[in-house]
Amino acid sequence: MTTTVLVTGGAGFIGSHTCVELLTHGWEVVVVDNHSNSSPAALERIEKTAGRPLAAAYDVDVRDREALGKVFAAHPVDAVIHFAAKKAVGESTQKPFDYYDTNVGGTTALLSVMHQHGVHRLVFSSSCSVYGDAVKVPLTETDPVAPTNPYATTKLRCEEILTDICRHEPRLRVLALRYFNPVGAHPGGLLGEDPRGVPDNVMPYVAQVAVGRLDRLRVFGDDYPTPDGTGVRDYIHVMDVAEGHRVALGHLDDAPGMRVFNLGTGVGTSVRELVAAFAEASGRDVPYEITGRRPGDVAALVADPTAVAGAWGWRTSRDLADMCRDAWRFQDLNPAGYPD
Ligand code: NAD
Ligand code: WQD
Repeated sequence: MTTTVLVTGGAGFIGSHTCVELLTHGWEVVVVDNHSNSSPAALERIEKTAGRPLAAAYDVDVRDREALGKVFAAHPVDAVIHFAAKKAVGESTQKPFDYYDTNVGGTTALLSVMHQHGVHRLVFSSSCSVYGDAVKVPLTETDPVAPTNPYATTKLRCEEILTDICRHEPRLRVLALRYFNPVGAHPGGLLGEDPRGVPDNVMPYVAQVAVGRLDRLRVFGDDYPTPDGTGVRDYIHVMDVAEGHRVALGHLDDAPGMRVFNLGTGVGTSVRELVAAFAEASGRDVPYEITGRRPGDVAALVADPTAVAGAWGWRTSRDLADMCRDAWRFQDLNPAGYPD
């Protein structure tokens, strides 16, 4: 029976929500995060939201094998969820070395330390971006992968490394989850998405327009081959992503080796539909203007979520209205994000 989980990147957007989900279901949770893209304030909010303390939280870089080794030595870790990574697509084209170093180097360092400490269960954060410019939607896990930027390539390289190591280390059990577009927030209002600077992603941008921090959304193109011309994505509530990780932990021992699953809803939503849903949920205007396409964007990315449903008997349960309502609650209660 797995009881202690080490969560890398546990103070980040998806990690913090997953920590709450695990704590409220009785797991002991150890966080490792260097806070390069998160506030330590998130840790207190995890505990307050869950009503239970974390077992421990370490300000450690996952590439620091010595420090990471001490964490493994101090706790009876049964499984690891590896969220820690750099995730900005645009930045990855400017700083590819940093992306390979953190995302690929961080993963191999973690794997070595896990191996040294006899830990063989891992849930790995992958991304729908590995599919690149999808030729058809919805996407199944066997569809071709063709990443179009260094960020996405690092995720695919990690999947390949994990697959190869699993071939030669039969004790290893890995689930790589390709998330589509995680959005929303914990309904308690204390935890949410708090990007540094101007948000790259549409949902936090829309939330900051609704709260008055930004004046209008720029919609990147309305000439895509989609029903209303704007980009279509599979938005998934971050609490469904968190729940998916908890369920995944219970399925690590189903089979040895590496398995890959999509984590999405199967529902595509256009930018226009998202803006309308957010305005409805918040009761605020969300002014927008149509601008040119963003380089590297694709028309539509939607998951076929049936593989995970078949393997785990689990599906997402929250819809777009839930995502907008919860994202708005966090933004409204925390207009400037987490305290410094
Ligand atoms: P996030 O930036 O909010 O969280 C990542 C956390 O990892 C941050 O707290 C950051 O401080 C930490 N971190 C980064 N580098 C580290 C290092 N070297 N050592 C220790 N900690 C480090 O991102 P997120 O949205 O929560 O994403 C979590 C994971 O999910 C990432 O691997 C990301 O690539 C993947 N993912 C995210 C999305 C998305 O849209 N948010 C989609 C698909 C996949
Ligand atoms: C969604 C839609 C934009 C901002 C990214 C990563 C992907 C994964 C999920 C990590 C698109 C449009 C956006 C804006 C807009 N992350 N948009 N105005 O690009 O689908 O995916 O996050 O793995 O790897 O690439 O998400 O939220 O940036 O964009 O019109 O200001 O919103 O064109 O159609 P994306 P996004």
